Amino acid sequence: MAARCGLLAGGRDQGSWKPEYRRVSFRKLIADIPSTTYATHGLYMYPAKFIPHVVRFALEKYSVEGDWILDPFAGYGTVAIEASLTGRNFIVWDLNPMLSLLVEASLYRDRVSLEDLHVDFSYGRSYTPEWSNLGYWHPREFLEPLSRAWGYYHYAAPRRLKPLIAIPLLKVTRYFSYSDEKIAKLYRSRRAREKVAGLLQKNYRDLMGRMYLSEARRLVSKIRDFQSRNPRVVEGVVEAGVDSLSKKLERRVKLLVTSPPYLQAQEYIRSFKLELFWLGYSEEEIRGLMRREIPYREPPKVEVKSSSYWEYRRRIEELGNHKLLRIYDSYFKSLILFLNNNHRMISRMAIFVGPVKIRGIRIPIDRVLREHLESLGWRHVETLIDTIVSRRLFKTKVNPATGLIDERTPTEHLIIMEKTG
Ligand SMILES: C[S@@+](CC[C@H](N)C(=O)[O-])C[C@H]1O[C@@H](n2cnc3c(N)ncnc32)[C@H](O)[C@@H]1O
Repeated sequence: MAARCGLLAGGRDQGSWKPEYRRVSFRKLIADIPSTTYATHGLYMYPAKFIPHVVRFALEKYSVEGDWILDPFAGYGTVAIEASLTGRNFIVWDLNPMLSLLVEASLYRDRVSLEDLHVDFSYGRSYTPEWSNLGYWHPREFLEPLSRAWGYYHYAAPRRLKPLIAIPLLKVTRYFSYSDEKIAKLYRSRRAREKVAGLLQKNYRDLMGRMYLSEARRLVSKIRDFQSRNPRVVEGVVEAGVDSLSKKLERRVKLLVTSPPYLQAQEYIRSFKLELFWLGYSEEEIRGLMRREIPYREPPKVEVKSSSYWEYRRRIEELGNHKLLRIYDSYFKSLILFLNNNHRMISRMAIFVGPVKIRGIRIPIDRVLREHLESLGWRHVETLIDTIVSRRLFKTKVNPATGLIDERTPTEHLIIMEKTG
């Protein structure tokens, strides 16, 4: 694989070791991935997913077949799919319970046909979520067929097919609600209210069935695409609905590949509430998950060993906004706690972090994580910088930290660290 591209500058001195900063286009580096949604990537919307090219790059350059790979903030499960396609074993954790059904559906190996995914929107037994706000999100008229279809899912569907049935059924459920499906966050917009008013004028039961069929057809064709790409028989451990800060690795892994939660990103659990309720989670369970979400959780008690962390903390403090400072602390302290708890069991790390500004201050997340890892005996190997093409702005001066032309363009950084000694 052509791993080198556009080497622009060396990094800071670390003795004789010079890490590199390189501008790359992961899409060009990994040209044999045809699109970001190939195979079973993109079965369901998941905000801030990695593009598979980044994961493939890290797996091919920093691990070999048979190695164990960890993603503690696995989200949709991009790492599980790429690991399976390249013959690596994987451990994936996420607070969001959606992870397990997304990975099970994405790695489905048996034969599947459209008939297997049949759902009865008039099924004899209904399932209604335990959700006090249900009537706020669905008009009463839609609840009847939806509850019957979900009754079929909960009480009649075969266990092995549940993840496959859940995906098109969740899409239908979300569409036939007041939530705006163009926005990942659960949001009742005017556009969505108009959509519901229009649907109520039509034969909505029939439309639900037709939408389900078309989504199920798409799912079957994506699963067949995945199966045609020679996925290997690998071992996989999926833990969904878990707090990665209270977990400790029980086995050694060669490589961590992850894109941690974004600072000031949207709240994942809140965004997936509608899905989680229909899947059978209670209000109390969902509240419990929300309390653990990074960076909205209580900041853990841990020391961040990074001068950049303190430098930027002072600048945030000067803004005089306690909420922002708490998010800043919660974000870094959470990631640091995870690293402190688990770094001894890991040989290499590939951490993908995006650009984040707090009130105009760009926070160098990769630098903070790198400095802390260096204090734990890790070495910075390289940082690959990709440009978010859709938001290209204009060129300015050279960035002193990287020696690269700073295009004032949002960039995403893949930072590679290796254990020394
Ligand atoms: C940027 S997303 C990861 C996306 C993933 N790389 C993908 O390709 O889909 C960050 C993830 O961190 C998860 N998360 C937030 N707090 C967490 C916690 N305490 N423990 C485990 N996962 C957490 C969120 O649920 C979210 O899925």
